[in-house]
Amino acid sequence: MRTERASLSRKWLERYDEVRNQTLKLVETLGPDDQMVQSMPDASPAKWHSAHTTWFFETFILAPHMRDYAPFDARFGFLFNSYYKRLGNHPNRAIRGTFSRPTLDQIRHYRTYVDSGVRELLAREASAETLRLLELGLNHEQQHQELIITDIKHAFWTNPLRPSYQPSQMQAVESGGAPLAWCYFDEGIYEAGHDLRGFAFDNELPRHRTYITPFRIGSRLVTNKEYQAFMDDGGYTRPELWLSDAWDHVSGEGWTAPLYWERTEDGWTQFTCRGTLPLNPNEPVCHVSFYEADAFARWANARLPTEFEWEVAAGFAGNSAMTSGNLLESETYHPRPATAQAGLQQIFGDAWEWTASPYSAYPGYCPPAGLEGEYNGKFMCNQIVLRGGSCATPASHIRKSYRNYFPPQARWQFSGIRLAQDGLARDRTDS
Ligand SMILES: [Fe+2]
Repeated sequence: MRTERASLSRKWLERYDEVRNQTLKLVETLGPDDQMVQSMPDASPAKWHSAHTTWFFETFILAPHMRDYAPFDARFGFLFNSYYKRLGNHPNRAIRGTFSRPTLDQIRHYRTYVDSGVRELLAREASAETLRLLELGLNHEQQHQELIITDIKHAFWTNPLRPSYQPSQMQAVESGGAPLAWCYFDEGIYEAGHDLRGFAFDNELPRHRTYITPFRIGSRLVTNKEYQAFMDDGGYTRPELWLSDAWDHVSGEGWTAPLYWERTEDGWTQFTCRGTLPLNPNEPVCHVSFYEADAFARWANARLPTEFEWEVAAGFAGNSAMTSGNLLESETYHPRPATAQAGLQQIFGDAWEWTASPYSAYPGYCPPAGLEGEYNGKFMCNQIVLRGGSCATPASHIRKSYRNYFPPQARWQFSGIRLAQDGLARDRTDS
């Protein structure tokens, strides 16, 4: 019994260390000055991400479940609370970048202190509830790992010096390229949602049946070249292509291209984690909002897939699509061109895929009791579901039932486009 418990603790500690170390690795090239920058209210300083993920373990696990736990600093409970109203007040998220104190060194000590607490708790009382919350905390930290990358990319883009997050590397401008084919799915009643084998967030539940009419879905993500054709055809200046909210927003913001694109004398460039690079026409278009994705799809005589159509398609793509995807561990932090000539590609990784589905509760959904109930459920309004993960998503974090969500105008995440169409007879269409 004792050996079993020791082995269980060891397994959990290995996973805990792996995830916590990944965060340290992502910020290791960033100095204290870099880690303080908050370039817009939606983004947070890297330093804040490191502290807030630590706060999560302290608040959800150590404080309520470890006897005699003494907080590292009682003020941090307020300072690093993101949005949990049941805990009381918290700082305005728009001014996180103004907190020069605690220093980066103090936050590093905070992490070490909480890590020691988790180790001690696991060694002496690893209850099922503790382990369940630990898994939640690790998945939470993985979400913030992706945000560390997208937020520092945005911060460096706003800096006139345009620093690189990673060392610059030559890139073959015309590399890759695969024709767009269509993958067909018959109408039917399909299962959607998580099957309860392994971890899932509450918003992936309950698993339920959903009726889907015949559809076809693009074999790969929409490319920069295809998106440029939309732009060259006056895409941003034709109101008939845009939803009303979208038109107002795009006109108001003066958008004429995806975020991070810039036109130069030598053609379009794109700011990346490796600095500014010439636009590769065969790479997936990225950093587009739902508004732009929807308008592009209309221009292309297509539409965005619903989240359920996407999930059905991902089920057919199989597990190998997950392990071979361009995810965080590939350390590209940038989408890659599709290369295969057939079959569903880029389902997992590269770029999150905007769906046509508003983020709402599944039938029978019930938020967890207590503090945890504020994690996902209260955001089910005015947001759109994205599926599939991106080049900044950890591999052990993504699955076919995973529901990401952002407001329709958001585009600083690695968000791209996959097209769908209503069912067409196979013998009338290509591939
Ligand atoms: Fe968080």
